Amino acid sequence: MPYLHRLGVDVVWLSPVLRSPMQDNGYDISDYEDIDPIFGTLGDLDALVEALHERGMRLVMDLVVNHTSSEHSWFRDSRTPGSPCHDWYIWRDPKPGAHPDPAAPAGTPRGDEPNPWMSAFFGPAWTWDAERGEYYLHLFAPGQPDLNWDNPNVRLEIFAMMRRWLDRGIDGFRMDVINLISNDQARATTDPSRGELDMVFQFEHMALDQENGNRFCPIPLHLPAMKRTRARWNLGLSGHGWNALYLSNHDQARPVSRYGDPVSHRHASATAWAGMLHAHQGTPFVYQGEEIGMANYPWADISELRDVETLGYWHEHVEVEGENPAAVWPGIVAGSRDNARTPMQWDGTPGAGFTTGDAWLPVNPDHLDVNVAAQVGVPGSTFEFFRRMISLRHSLRVLVDGDFDLLEPDHPVLWWVRRLWHGRTFDAVANMSSDGLLWDLPEGDVVLANCAPPVHGHRPADRLSPWEMRWIVS
Ligand code: BGC
Repeated sequence: MPYLHRLGVDVVWLSPVLRSPMQDNGYDISDYEDIDPIFGTLGDLDALVEALHERGMRLVMDLVVNHTSSEHSWFRDSRTPGSPCHDWYIWRDPKPGAHPDPAAPAGTPRGDEPNPWMSAFFGPAWTWDAERGEYYLHLFAPGQPDLNWDNPNVRLEIFAMMRRWLDRGIDGFRMDVINLISNDQARATTDPSRGELDMVFQFEHMALDQENGNRFCPIPLHLPAMKRTRARWNLGLSGHGWNALYLSNHDQARPVSRYGDPVSHRHASATAWAGMLHAHQGTPFVYQGEEIGMANYPWADISELRDVETLGYWHEHVEVEGENPAAVWPGIVAGSRDNARTPMQWDGTPGAGFTTGDAWLPVNPDHLDVNVAAQVGVPGSTFEFFRRMISLRHSLRVLVDGDFDLLEPDHPVLWWVRRLWHGRTFDAVANMSSDGLLWDLPEGDVVLANCAPPVHGHRPADRLSPWEMRWIVS
């Protein structure tokens, strides 16, 4: 907590910590009322809330209510005729007249599913339940049955549960899979006058370097597409709704590996991306380790990975469809969600200061150099850049409320964002490439930079080094 406080964090978002069989890292909750023992106790949560509040920070918890775990008592009870939970999930009869193959291998259709929907984690979205004699729907893994939100009792139960957590002292929720709502809906639902949501996470920019939005099929990013997407969401919600600004979370590969140059320009590319993102309007999110430039893990074999989505994709493509593993593997390495889920790198010791035991995923070998202990208080470090950037976000009103403009939208490597507020101009300018770039920079005070400033006579002021980024105020 002192670390997050020092970084300048206002609100902590915890991924799910409630009781769960952990088929999907806690996004499969089996008891909404208790903390999973692998994380601690309710008493620990109370202590966390108190310690955050003492430091003026707040706590947001993940609210996973599209589905529960199949081990939740509601789901087990829903198999029993006459149970109050009988209709709490989406149960359907098999397709009439179809002939199921009871021996169909796991993850492949039996042939009499109610419809051909596929789950987000691969394989059919319907699983046959022999006990109830019906199929149940799961948009994600079979262990994540979808709740039936048309049943008013489901809603009342969830609302009461949310109320209990708020009464306990938590400050808000991140609502899991409130899916893919459009720009217009996002603007309406985050309009403060409606009292619904405070902000929205959209995924459009996350799909720009993927073929058909498939994280396991990476394609090169075309920077102008990223610039325009971010600009469109900025302009689209401005004055009404509110954006969440992020490049990284527990579901995404590490941005420095995905969009930057972790080998030759780790610090500069990590901070150039951060500085440009944080120059937009909205609430910026920093995912653990992003602030020290943590990168993807150098996976060598599928047996090292744990993520249900990754393993589902591998199973479907390699084991079911017989694709060449060597052709599937690079997409796994680049796109797996496990890239974001390796232990936090606190120091250079074995276990990275995270644990002296065995973590659920291996520690990235780069923790020897890339770790908190090597960066906190060290001028020019990635951590200190983030700290300064966050403190400017707190003090520069133009970043909160300023009008937005994207300049040079078609330039292939220059990213230039301008914000205007009450006669003040704020420019964020970056060279998003590993080559130098000549560019006439706007005049003004450089309030944030990720490279040493040009020394007169040493390097021309209008030359941006690889991944150089500046915030300029005039
Ligand atoms: C979460 C994922 C999770 C999925 C299913 C997503 O919104 O961020 O981590 O696997 O929902 O709950």
